[in-house]
Amino acid sequence: MNRKFSNILVTGGAGFIGVNFIRYLFEKTGFSGRIVNFDALTYAGNPASLRDIAERYGSGRYVFVRGDIRDRAAVDQVFADYGIDAVVHFAAESHVDRSILGPKAFITTNVMGSFTLLEAARSAWKLSDGRLRDDVLFHHVSTDEVFGSLGETGYFTETTAYDPRSPYSASKAGSDHLVRSYHHTYGLPVTISNCSNNYGPYQFPEKLIPLMILNMLEGKSLPVYGDGKNVRDWLYVEDHASAIWTIMNKAADGESYNVGGENEWENIRLLERLIEIVAKKAGKPVRAVRDTITYVRDRPGHDRRYAIDCSLIKRELGWKQSVDFEGGLERTVDWYLANLAWVDAIRSGEYQKWIEANYGRRG
Ligand code: NAD
Ligand code: TYD
Repeated sequence: MNRKFSNILVTGGAGFIGVNFIRYLFEKTGFSGRIVNFDALTYAGNPASLRDIAERYGSGRYVFVRGDIRDRAAVDQVFADYGIDAVVHFAAESHVDRSILGPKAFITTNVMGSFTLLEAARSAWKLSDGRLRDDVLFHHVSTDEVFGSLGETGYFTETTAYDPRSPYSASKAGSDHLVRSYHHTYGLPVTISNCSNNYGPYQFPEKLIPLMILNMLEGKSLPVYGDGKNVRDWLYVEDHASAIWTIMNKAADGESYNVGGENEWENIRLLERLIEIVAKKAGKPVRAVRDTITYVRDRPGHDRRYAIDCSLIKRELGWKQSVDFEGGLERTVDWYLANLAWVDAIRSGEYQKWIEANYGRRG
C-alpha cells in the first residue's frame, strides 16, 4: 500500500492529539496537500493552539471549520466543499471521569457522531455504479481502553476480545465496531488504531500528567485515585501521530493496529518521577511537593492495568517510538512551564471569549 492524500479532513483537530497530529503533518512529513480541521469546539477544543499554523498555511493548505460531527448537513458540506479524500477521526468526548458523571454526550458524539461521519463518507465516496472509491481512506483513532482491564500480566493485542468497562470506553468500542462494519458491509476503505495513554504539549489540564504538573507549580494537592497502583502505558503524543500517519500510508484496508509506548508505570511511581522533574525545574524542594500527594476516593470501575503489545505495527509497518519517557516528560514539563499563558487562558475563560468572538457561542 502506498497512498497519496490531497485533502485530509481531521475531525477534533482542535483537541490535544488532533493539534499535535496537524503540527506533525505540516512540520515533520512531506505532506503537501490541504488539512481541513473540523471541530465543534467543546470545552476541550481550542483553535488558538494552531494559531501559528493558521497564519503560516491559512492561504489554502489549512482550513478551520467549526462544526459538529453529529450534524449531517455540516459534515456533507465539508466533504463537498473540499474534495475530501481522507478522514482522520479524532473527534470525541475523551475523559473517563466526565463519562462517569454524564455519559450522554459520549454516546451522542462517540457513537452517533461517528455513525454520521461514516454515512457522510459513504455517500461522498460513492461512484456512479454504486461501489465506493478505493483511493480514499477513513482512519479511526481509538483507544486501548476498549479491551478492558488487565491483571498483573499479559498484553492487549489486535485480537484481544473487546471488554469496555466505562461509558467512555464502551462508546469508543461502539464506534470501532461501526467503522469495521462499514468496511465489511459497504467496502469503505478504513484503518483503525488503538493507542495507549498519550502525554505531551496541549493536553487539556484535566488529564493526569498536565493536572499534576500544574498542581505542583501552584502548590495544590496531588489527587491520587485509590491505591495509586493502577498501571498505564504512556506514549509521547508525537509518536502517536507518526503511528497514525504510518498506518494511513502503509496499512491494508480494514486493518487495525495497536500502538503503545511499551512503557508501563504505576500512577504513584509516575507521579514520584514527575515530582522530581518539576521540583528541580521550578526550584522547589522535592519533599515539600511530595507531601502534597493526597490519596482520594477511587474512580468507580477504575481499570487496573492497560498494556499494549505493539509488535505488529513494528514488524509489519516499520513504526517505532522515537521519544523515551525521560525525554518526553522533560519536554512536556518544559512546554507547560513555557506556556502557562495557554493554561491561564483556558482557566480564565479568555480563550472562550476569543472563540466566541471568532466562531460564535459554543454549542
Ligand atoms: P480531546 O478531548 O483533547 O479533544 C477532542 C476534540 O474533539 C476537541 O477539540 C473537541 O472540541 C472535539 N469534539 C468533541 N465533540 C465533538 C463533536 N461532536 N463534533 C466535532 N468535534 C468534537 O481528546 P484527545 O485526547 O485529543 O483524543 C482524541 C482522540 O484520540 C479521541 O477519539 C480519543 O478517544 C483518542 N485517544 C486518546 C488517547 C489519549 O491518551 N488522550 C489515547 C488513545 C486514543
Ligand atoms: P487519565 O489521564 O484520566 O487517563 P485514563 O483514565 O484514560 O487512563 O488517568 C490516568 C490514570 O491516572 C488513571 O489510572 C486515573 C489516574 N488519575 C489519578 O489518580 N488522579 C487524577 O487526578 C487523574 C485525572 C487521574
